[in-house]
Amino acid sequence: MKVAFIGIGKMGLPMAGNVLRAGHDLTVFNRTASRSDPLRDDGATVATSAAEAVRGAEVLVTMVADGAAVEAQLEGDEGFLAEAPDGLVWLEMSTIGPIAARAFAARAAEAGIQMLDAPVSGSVAVAEAAGLVAMVGGPSDALERACPVLEAMTKAQFHLGETGAGAAMKLGVNVMIASQTVAISEALNLAEAAGIERADAYDVIAAGALASPFVEYKRAAFLDPDGTPPAFALDLMRKDLKLALEQGEAAGLPLFGAGAAADAMTVAAGLEGGDEDLVRVADALRRIAAGTSGDAKN
Ligand SMILES: NC(=O)c1ccc[n+]([C@@H]2O[C@H](COP(=O)([O-])OP(=O)(O)OC[C@H]3O[C@@H](n4cnc5c(N)ncnc54)[C@H](OP(=O)(O)O)[C@@H]3O)[C@@H](O)[C@H]2O)c1
Repeated sequence: MKVAFIGIGKMGLPMAGNVLRAGHDLTVFNRTASRSDPLRDDGATVATSAAEAVRGAEVLVTMVADGAAVEAQLEGDEGFLAEAPDGLVWLEMSTIGPIAARAFAARAAEAGIQMLDAPVSGSVAVAEAAGLVAMVGGPSDALERACPVLEAMTKAQFHLGETGAGAAMKLGVNVMIASQTVAISEALNLAEAAGIERADAYDVIAAGALASPFVEYKRAAFLDPDGTPPAFALDLMRKDLKLALEQGEAAGLPLFGAGAAADAMTVAAGLEGGDEDLVRVADALRRIAAGTSGDAKN
């Protein structure tokens, strides 16, 4: 199929690579052009605007930071709505929450295209292995058409209902990831304070009742945060938890765990840097324990 892919970030790069490897005719666009270089080398066409990328496409994938980034690619002469062909199916795979997803879908419909919210669970290594799990909201016929592209990037696709259902489910999943990150951080710090080696403590966690793919693929980052490139930025998780708390408030649902995790992520972003990985929560808590002048990382 002819596919346009906008947003070649940490996740977008391996996802677009898998679309290409599955044999699709791929055109990519990213705000910072150099991030598309590896895909050009592998045979993708690199466009100079979102509008150019989407010309003639059957499926469009967007994988950008947040709703504001989607907005920035949408409108105007350079935006993809200007050139979107009739019948285009837009897979919006960023984490933007259900309110934004429904608003974008309505604008897409006015332009004659169908949007599916299809955010994913997984991380960079999981994306590289095409092992992501997609949560999809929107019309079945659009999903059927976009399926070959979605399947190239994901190992499972759950169609959960109307537009916004996928985006809503994704926020629930990220509440779990954030809470797990805080829980693992606290467990590791408690173990280390009791004289247990961090690696030994991690082995116990990975073999225990809460063992999970997340615990496995975060092992290197938790054990060696300085030597492991960030995969999921603290600031992105803060954005997701803010969306989840807003969704909870709209539904009248208390989200105590999400609130506590959001506070921990904010403290960690302040002490360690918002571009750093989620696992820096553990470092931030150690830094607090050591006092502001202490070196908490060792
Ligand atoms: N990382 C993970 O483990 C993970 C897992 C599941 C879902 N997600 C979600 O997937 C999405 C992408 O995450 P990521 O980790 O790939 O983030 P990332 O590496 O920070 O990439 C963000 C992408 O968005 C683009 N972007 C940001 N602001 C923009 C703007 N105003 N206009 C145009 N483009 C803009 C960036 O372009 P530039 O290159 O020009 O900055 C880049 O392509 C996020 O919604 C995130 O919450 C992430």
